[in-house]
This record gives sequence, structure tokens and C-alpha cells, in this order.
Amino acid sequence: MGSLSNTLPSWIPGRTRGRRGPSRFGTRGPGSLYRKLKSLELLATRDRRAVLSFLTARYPLELPLHERLGLVRRFVETTDAVRCYHTQVEILAVVDAIFRLAGRPELTVVEAGAAKGASSAKLSLVAARAGGRLHVFDSFRGIPPNDEQHTRLDGSAVHFRAGAFAGRLPSVKRVVERFGAPQVCELHKGWFEETMPGFAGPVDVALLDVDLLASTRTCLVHLFPKVRPGGVVFTQDGHLRAIVELLADERFWRDEVRVEPPVIEGLGERKMLAIRPAGA
Ligand SMILES: C[S@@+](CC[C@H](N)C(=O)[O-])C[C@H]1O[C@@H](n2cnc3c(N)ncnc32)[C@H](O)[C@@H]1O
Repeated sequence: MGSLSNTLPSWIPGRTRGRRGPSRFGTRGPGSLYRKLKSLELLATRDRRAVLSFLTARYPLELPLHERLGLVRRFVETTDAVRCYHTQVEILAVVDAIFRLAGRPELTVVEAGAAKGASSAKLSLVAARAGGRLHVFDSFRGIPPNDEQHTRLDGSAVHFRAGAFAGRLPSVKRVVERFGAPQVCELHKGWFEETMPGFAGPVDVALLDVDLLASTRTCLVHLFPKVRPGGVVFTQDGHLRAIVELLADERFWRDEVRVEPPVIEGLGERKMLAIRPAGA
């Protein structure tokens, strides 16, 4: 995320204050004035194209402009109040894919990796409006113990420590109740290895944001064969070299996932990738 202090004048709260601690306007975290101003700045810059494209897209359901604006406003309110690990651009790509399939019988959206529940709340609103359901998979205790050492595409190293991103189940439930559509949302608590084999599907749109190679593998093995024609799986982990190598490996798809290697948009170039079944 770019630094606000590089782009806005000095009177804006939340500028880096070295050891002096938070400003008198509060910290930079959820609920802070800084967070709200940052959202507005991003709407006018980084997010602008994605928002405009969502406002003008054609979908197989009646979705008037005021409703679209209302959804964007809810997304921003959620981002302002809850710690998020996605951008509005990323979530709008998933939103677009869901609305394109609106009205499909048993429309099923899956999210793997919920953290504090901000993305779950947003996706639940859209699943509900599109006539579908949302299944959220997470340990609700953060990243599992692991010894994976990752390198990003830019060459920098990263380790996802056990327990990182943890959002406890009761607190994620509260976030979905406050900002989302809890009536269409089912939360599956546990390690993916335990919870996903029992999930029957189908899958129409899935969003994976799971950080680890082992977790990505498990999600794809259990979810991808259940993707219906026209469906798509997004991953937000395309900036990790190990994930790119896994997704580029034809043997992984044929021998472990047991499908033909899919079509992957953005592989090796972007963080957010769209994976579509071959020949769909
Ligand atoms: C980066 S966070 C998700 C961020 C969230 N989508 C957002 O945008 O705010 C990654 C999540 O994946 C979950 N996770 C990773 N591997 C897992 C596994 N094997 N089983 C269950 N949960 C896992 C962690 O608990 C964590 O909540």
C-alpha cells in the first residue's frame, strides 16, 4: 500500500510519527479517520477504473445504479471498519464474476481464507443479491504451522507464520452479521484438509487467499473439480513464485487435481489470477 504521507498534505492525520506514537486523530487502523481518508483517496485513484467498470457492467439481472453504488459504499464501510487483506479492485473482480452468473440454479460462491471476515461480508452481500450462497472455509485460528519459505515475484522473501491473520469464529460471524448477508453464508471451521473433502459443491466462483503452497494445493484438489462450466477460481497468491510454479505444473493438474490443465489469466505477472476449467 502506498504511503498516505507521500501523497497528502501534512494536516492529514495518521502520518508517520516515528516514536511519538499515534496522532491525536487516532491510529491508522480500522475505524480511524486515516483509514476513511485513505479509502476516499484510493477510490479516486487505484480503485477508480474497477469501480467505474462495475457501475457500468451488464449482468443477467436488474441491478440499478443506486444499488451498485450502495454495494460500493458498503464495501468501503467494511474496509474502513475491519482489517482487510484485499483491495477493492481484487474484490470487485470476484463480484463481477458472481454477478455474471446471477440467477444460475444453486449458485455457489466459495471463499477459502477469511481472516477477519471483511471479504466474507462483501462476498455474502453479492452472493445474496445474485440468488446464491457463500461457503467460507477457514481455520479461524490463522495460518497453520508450516516451514514454507516463500519468495515473491520481485525476489523478496516472506514467511507466513503460524497464527497470522487469525480471526476467531465468533468475531467473523459478527462482521458478516454487521456488514454482510449472514442468511446466505455458511462458515466451515477447521483446516482445509479436514473440512473440504466433505464439501459436495458445486462451485461457481471461488476466491482463494490462503498464502501457503500446501493450502493452495488442498483447495485446488478439493474445489477445482467441482467448478461448473462458466465458473472461475481466483487466487490472490499469484505473487508467490512457488504458487506460480504449482499452477504452471501440468502434472499437478492431471495427477492431483485430475482435470485438464486450466486456462490461467495473469500467471507470473499478477497477484490476482483467474483460473478457468479447460474448454469451458
Ligand atoms: C490472508 S488471510 C485471508 C484474508 C482475507 N481474504 C481478506 O481479504 O481479508 C489467509 C487466511 O487463510 C487461512 N488459512 C490458510 N491456510 C489454511 C488451512 N490449511 N486451513 C484453514 N485455514 C487456512 C488463515 O486462517 C487466514 O485466515
